[in-house]
Amino acid sequence: MKVGILSGGGDAPGINAVIRAVVRKGIQNYGYEITGIKDGWAGLLEAKYLPLDLKAASGILPRGGSILGTSRTNPFKSEKGPEKIMKNARKAAIEAVIAIGGDDTLGVADKMGKYGLKCVGVPKTIDNDLAGTDYTFGFNTAVSIATEALDRLHTTAETHHRVIILEVMGRYTGWIALEAGIAGGADIILIPEKPFDIDDICALIKRRQERGRNFSIVVVAEGAKPKGGVEIVYSESLDEFGHIRLGGIGYYLGKGIEKCLNIETRVVVLGHLQRGGSPTAFDRVLATRFGIAAIDMVHEGKFGHMTAIEGNRIVSVPLKEVVGKRKTVDLELYDIASVFFG
Ligand code: F6P
Repeated sequence: MKVGILSGGGDAPGINAVIRAVVRKGIQNYGYEITGIKDGWAGLLEAKYLPLDLKAASGILPRGGSILGTSRTNPFKSEKGPEKIMKNARKAAIEAVIAIGGDDTLGVADKMGKYGLKCVGVPKTIDNDLAGTDYTFGFNTAVSIATEALDRLHTTAETHHRVIILEVMGRYTGWIALEAGIAGGADIILIPEKPFDIDDICALIKRRQERGRNFSIVVVAEGAKPKGGVEIVYSESLDEFGHIRLGGIGYYLGKGIEKCLNIETRVVVLGHLQRGGSPTAFDRVLATRFGIAAIDMVHEGKFGHMTAIEGNRIVSVPLKEVVGKRKTVDLELYDIASVFFG
């Protein structure tokens, strides 16, 4: 059997570890042929492939990015896109597809099932906001990078008696901000799930000053918004899945804090540093387990499902039950973090 594999959406450290696991077990244990599909769903629309043998998949475990490339192409936005995909899959003799992606990529995998494409999903996003799985790979790496950034920002903020704001990714949920904020000892954490009031933030910083702490560290998720307000966007243009480009909440806050407290404030936008580079050991292990589970699911004919982790067990969940849903942060964890605010 020939199995196609693709990665779609924003990259996340660990994609190559998934590919390596699929190739190794698929070829060694099941005698399958594995074909890489380039640049997400665009590769099946345009018939762009990369044959993957054992050699092609060796040495890629610690590498960030994806050897297959990625895109945010939505085949349902192009004329006869799903039909083209089916035609190309048949032509290339691809009988099953493993789709590594977030909600958008897996949503396409789910919908393609109705056209007869046999898909297995692997959940991937640094944002960790996919429903149906306790963790997505890439998240642990992003949290580690953001935590290291916070450790570094602490020393300079303290030395200069400044407020430093770290803007991290997290479009709809604040997982990265919350976990990195706890690990990095943030004084305030702002997330999309909890709209903020600038006066409350200033009051917390003031309280810190009153107890002799003349610097503060604020972590903010890019999707955080003021109470009754909207997200701060970098550009109004939408991608093929209808997402706007966020960015700028850090500067918005910085100006607000300087205005009410007259304290020198600096802003750092961590951006794609969170997504690039080598995965942590945790993400390598999780991605490897997901890759093995995905090829096993293909072998068992368990299509229309994705791999997931529940506690420390790898399980499978129907795509239908997860796409279009969102796993928001655990508010009990936010309460723990807030003990250290101000
Ligand atoms: O992968 C999800 C994410 O990291 C979001 O947090 C962020 O808004 C988005 O990707 C940015 O992606 P890009 O700049 O690659 O379009």
